Amino acid sequence: MQGKHILLGVTGGIAAYKSADLVRRLRERGAEVQVAMTPAAREFVGPITFQALSGRPVRIDLWDSAAEAAMGHIELARWAELVLIAPASADFLARLAGGKADDLLSTLCLATEAPIAVAPAMNRIMWGNAATAANVALLRQRGVHVLGPAEGAQACGEVGEGRMLEPQDLADRLAELLPRDGPLRGRRVLITAGPTRERIDPVRFISNRSSGKMGFAVAQAAREAGAEVVLVSGPVALPTPHGVRRVDVESAQAMLEAVQREIAQANIFISTAAVADYRPASPAEQKIKKTSDRLHLDMERTVDVLATVAARPERPFVVGFAAETESVEQNARGKLLNKNLDMIAANEVGHTKGFDCEDNHLVVLWRNARQDLGSGPKLALARELVRLIAESYTASLTGARHLDTVRA
Ligand SMILES: Cc1cc2nc3c(=O)[nH]c(=O)nc-3n(C[C@H](O)[C@H](O)[C@H](O)COP(=O)(O)O)c2cc1C
Repeated sequence: MQGKHILLGVTGGIAAYKSADLVRRLRERGAEVQVAMTPAAREFVGPITFQALSGRPVRIDLWDSAAEAAMGHIELARWAELVLIAPASADFLARLAGGKADDLLSTLCLATEAPIAVAPAMNRIMWGNAATAANVALLRQRGVHVLGPAEGAQACGEVGEGRMLEPQDLADRLAELLPRDGPLRGRRVLITAGPTRERIDPVRFISNRSSGKMGFAVAQAAREAGAEVVLVSGPVALPTPHGVRRVDVESAQAMLEAVQREIAQANIFISTAAVADYRPASPAEQKIKKTSDRLHLDMERTVDVLATVAARPERPFVVGFAAETESVEQNARGKLLNKNLDMIAANEVGHTKGFDCEDNHLVVLWRNARQDLGSGPKLALARELVRLIAESYTASLTGARHLDTVRA
């Protein structure tokens, strides 16, 4: 965190006293901390406490004529490399979700391009309220990182979910969210991973053997390379890589919709998911009974997520994955050309290969070039692949359309 600019927003909740300790923890790790408080927060902790701990005057008032002569709220919004609201009151979450800009803190949240994280803290019933739940879901959808809350004893005497995470925990989680140095710093990468499930009836589905391990490894590698990463994942049993925002989906259609919501902000799209090509045309409303010897399922095509992204007029740099059981490179090259991708990673899958195992073998293809990454653990291959993606993407920005043309 050395030298990183963290803007700490403090809103009106009992947990505001813990934020004083949070400032110390962040400063201990070398961060520069600027505190901005809502007027309500001042009722709980005095600004002098935060000023003494942060070493900077606290900002509260949007109508501060000295600061606003130089458009202070915009300056703060630009200065921040990360904005953390801790504690985030129910009221503030509602204002943030509603796009309000009626005080200094909400205005600068609207004006910043830095990642925003919130640490909600409130009574368990306020947290469980449908309005708060809807606001938090909307904020998550828009890319706000929601840290906590934790469960336990509350200041109001109740026990339940709604406690702010402890300062030490918050400082750890923040370290993962800070923009990192690396070839993809400042870039947004959208990755799909895992299988999809296509409903047959309320209790059955059609799926495939993808474990999501390769996609999760690529997400981790992209994050390590400095990118802001969104991972749209089908149903898998894997932990989310640190600092990655995860969106869980089930069906091919839900994956398409999640990708379409996120794609406009993405510089690079990497499709590792094993999306179903077909789904039952009319899933049964009730469980299908075993009344006959044979069951025929009428299947229809799903929309091709990768091809849809690659066909967008304003498209990101697009990387595909080809999982093939035969003629691996030939099929992958066909997919690269037919879907108009920038790069494709080919791997052989089958009874003992590719799916649901720790190792893989990748061959990367461009229109006029090829590189065999060999066999190895998925994370090692993912790091190598991300290095190549960063190189090709950067080359595409400078006019040389692909890495192969740069190499030539
Ligand atoms: C003693 C007291 C404690 C409060 N604690 C909380 C709290 O923990 N969480 C919360 O969301 N609101 C809490 N509130 C309500 C907020 O302070 C109130 O909604 C306020 O408008 C929040 O303003 P702000 O979001 O601009 O900071 C509390 C109010 C009082 C009087």
